Amino acid sequence: MNLLRAHLAQLPPYKPVEPYEVLARRLGRRPEDLVKLDANENPYGPLPQVREALARLDYPHIYPDPASRTLREALAETYGLPLEHFFVGAGADELLELIVRVLLEPGDVLVDVPPTFGMYAFLARVYAARVVEVPRNPDFSIRLEALLDAVRTYRPKVIFLASPNNPNGWPVAREVVEALLEEPLVVVVDEAYIEFTDDGGPLGEGNSLLTRVPHRENLVVLRTFSKAAGLAGLRVGYGAFPLWLAEAMWKVKQPYNVSVAAQVAARVTLQHRQDLIPVVERLRAERQRLLLELPRLPYLEVYPSQANFVLARVTQGSAEALRDYLAREHGILVRYFKQPGLRQHLRISAGRPEDTDRLLEALHQWQPA
Ligand SMILES: Cc1ncc(COP(=O)(O)O)c(C=O)c1O
Repeated sequence: MNLLRAHLAQLPPYKPVEPYEVLARRLGRRPEDLVKLDANENPYGPLPQVREALARLDYPHIYPDPASRTLREALAETYGLPLEHFFVGAGADELLELIVRVLLEPGDVLVDVPPTFGMYAFLARVYAARVVEVPRNPDFSIRLEALLDAVRTYRPKVIFLASPNNPNGWPVAREVVEALLEEPLVVVVDEAYIEFTDDGGPLGEGNSLLTRVPHRENLVVLRTFSKAAGLAGLRVGYGAFPLWLAEAMWKVKQPYNVSVAAQVAARVTLQHRQDLIPVVERLRAERQRLLLELPRLPYLEVYPSQANFVLARVTQGSAEALRDYLAREHGILVRYFKQPGLRQHLRISAGRPEDTDRLLEALHQWQPA
C-alpha cells in the first residue's frame, strides 16, 4: 500500500539509537562502567534538590499544566522579561518543531549552514520544505556574504543558528546575527550550550541574546535544561519568542507537552541555579583539559570550543575505527561523523575528571593503522 505523504518517501529510514543498557550489554560492560561522551549530556545529572523534589512528586497522576505557568513565571522572574515571551517545550527539540510547524509551508526553503545541529534540516524535510545549504568555512565560521546572498535569493522565513554551534563548539559571530536580524526572516539563536562559554558568566546570562527578544519582532532565543542542568532524560527546554510567534505556537502545540516531572525539575533547577555554577566550572575545566591534551596526540587535530564538547579531526588512521576501538576496548563512547565537511571527525563531550583520564589513557594506546 502506498498511502504515505509523498515527500516522506525521500526521508532516510529511522535508525533508533541503541538504548544505553543494551549497548552496555553488547560491549560486555555494566552501564555504570561505560564512559558516555557521545551526546553532550551532563554526567553529574540533576542538582540534589531536583532529585529530592522528583522523589516526592505530588501529582504524577494528574495531567500537567498545559501552560507550564509556574515554570514560565520562574523564567520571567529569572530573566526580568514579561511572562508572555516564554514558551516551554519537551526539550528545545519540540520548540524547533513548533517553529517549523507554524512557519514553513510545503515547498518553502530553509537555508541551513552545515555542519550544524542536524535537527534543523531534518525538521524542514519532515514538513516538506526544501533545504538549501550554505556550507561553513573549514574553520566552521559562517560565510556571511554567501549566506546573505542565499537569504535574498530564496527568501527563507526562518534560519537556525546554534551558538555555540554543534558539533564544533564555537559561538556564532555577533555580526552574523546582527546582519540576519536586518533581513525579513525569523532568526532563531539556539543557545543550548551557552552556559559553557567563557564570557557568558557561569549561567550564560552574560552573552545571551535572550533579553533582546522583546525589542525585536524577528528574534527567537532557545535554551535547554538538557545540558548544564543535567535533565536531558526529562525533556524540557524553553525559549523567548516575539509575541506574534508565541501566539501561533500556542494554537498548535499538544496540550500536555511538558510532563509534571519535567516542570518540577526545571523549576527547582531555576530556584537553585547558583548551585549549577560549580558543575559548569568542572565541565569547563575538563573541556580545557581536552583542548590541551588531545592535540598532543600525533593523530588528532582539535578545534577551539566554548561548549561542553570538543571536535577533533583524525589525521592518521580511520576515525570510525578509533570510535569502535574506544567503545570495544575501553567502553568509551564518542560521536563519529561521516557527512560532508565532517569526514574523519569525532566529537567528544566533556565528562568527569576520571572520564578524561580514561579517555586519554586509551587514546595514548591507540595505534593508527
Ligand atoms: C544545538 C542543539 N540544540 C538543541 C538540542 C536539543 O536539546 P533538547 O535536549 O533540549 O531537545 C541539542 C541537543 O543536542 C543541540 O545540540
